[in-house]
Amino acid sequence: MDDILTIEGVAADRLASALGTPLIVYSERALEDRLCEFKSSFRHAEFDTQVIYASKAFSCTAMLKLVENAGCGLDVVSGGELAAADNAGFPMDRVVFHGNNKTPDELRLALKLGVGSIIVDNPIELTEVERAAADLGVCAHVIIRVNPGIEADTHKYIITANIDSKFGVSIYERDTVFEMARRAENSRHMRFDGIHIHIGSQIFGIDPYIAAVREISEFVSELEKEVCGVKVLDLGGGFAAAYVDGETPLPVSDVCSQILDECYRQKKALGLSVEKIMIEPGRSVVAEAGTTLYTVGYTKKTANKKYVFVDGGMSDNIRPALYGAKYRCDAANKMNAPRSEKVCVAGKCCESGDIIIEQTLLPKLEPGDLLAVYTTGAYGYSMASNYNRLPLPAVAFVKDGKARCVIKRQPYEDMWRLDADLTVDI
Ligand code: LLP
Repeated sequence: MDDILTIEGVAADRLASALGTPLIVYSERALEDRLCEFKSSFRHAEFDTQVIYASKAFSCTAMLKLVENAGCGLDVVSGGELAAADNAGFPMDRVVFHGNNKTPDELRLALKLGVGSIIVDNPIELTEVERAAADLGVCAHVIIRVNPGIEADTHKYIITANIDSKFGVSIYERDTVFEMARRAENSRHMRFDGIHIHIGSQIFGIDPYIAAVREISEFVSELEKEVCGVKVLDLGGGFAAAYVDGETPLPVSDVCSQILDECYRQKKALGLSVEKIMIEPGRSVVAEAGTTLYTVGYTKKTANKKYVFVDGGMSDNIRPALYGAKYRCDAANKMNAPRSEKVCVAGKCCESGDIIIEQTLLPKLEPGDLLAVYTTGAYGYSMASNYNRLPLPAVAFVKDGKARCVIKRQPYEDMWRLDADLTVDI
């Protein structure tokens, strides 16, 4: 093996010298393959199906183009994600608009642009959707978000379906959901399409999905008996990625087929009229395709630790600080050197919690060496910040030995571009 890490045939040191570091490098092939795998696996003879990529995991124009070309839909959760989709020319009828607190302006923008569905979080929002649709003279396609009360075994910040979750209406508030469905169904400006659930993120097993499908199918069955038919069941995202050794997510094809088979079993058993099943993977599409390259700066020994400092940190990857997330890494220019030192990889932010990897074995590193941190493709760039005025990193797609920069490194000037001294007329 060469001493230098290559990604899709492109040497890491050449990428770093061409585009600088920190640099998030995606294998474009891995992104395309994963989208295609979801698209081809999430099929069933008895259902219409749609794979909706959750753009919060990573979004830029080039990524949205890959999603579009793969024939997938797009999940957006804010006016910003919606505008980004519009700017990228993403087909709006394939967009679903999420969020627990969409503003009236955001709803209006979504309806004006003609989004495919609005996932309505609560009864007050339903009133807002109706008002906006009436004002614009359009019909909003509504899917109601139900919180199924399934607790997946994941970090508490990324559980979204426990009983006190801020998302959706609890499955135990049956009458509230039924009333929302009735209102949507009877409105001239809304069409009730179906029910949405999302049980959490970084879920390894299939069992929570099967449990959720069973639970929501019973609910849908009652809803159909008492109110109206349910055409669409959107099961959300949450499929795990492998960050460290020993993590083995189920193959996408197994997850997809088992979910769809269970949906079909429930449809038959309960006589449901559901015609279409959707899923919204984010992390599992992009996480493993991404690698962050950092340049090593100083190293430092303390009483009990040896630090390796890199030229980024929590500003480009807040997940270790926020969730205790774990990552693997390599010295990208010393791939064959013995891993002789136990080190802590820390960033350059003014914050003790700015750690990328708490403990790992690496070769002895010098200033200027390159560190590759793997599986950084999801919720890294999208949660990046300008903390300490560190510029946002550049992002490159590599494929067949070629690289293209898909997001430029943020220039310093960009950070004060919005600074102002304007008198405000009040
Ligand atoms: N659909 C809905 C309604 C969601 O809330 C989410 C994620 C997804 C789909 C996509 O889930 P995924 O397939 O990516 O797990 N920042 C956290 C993850 C937060 C996920 C929030 N919702 C992290 O870095 O782990």
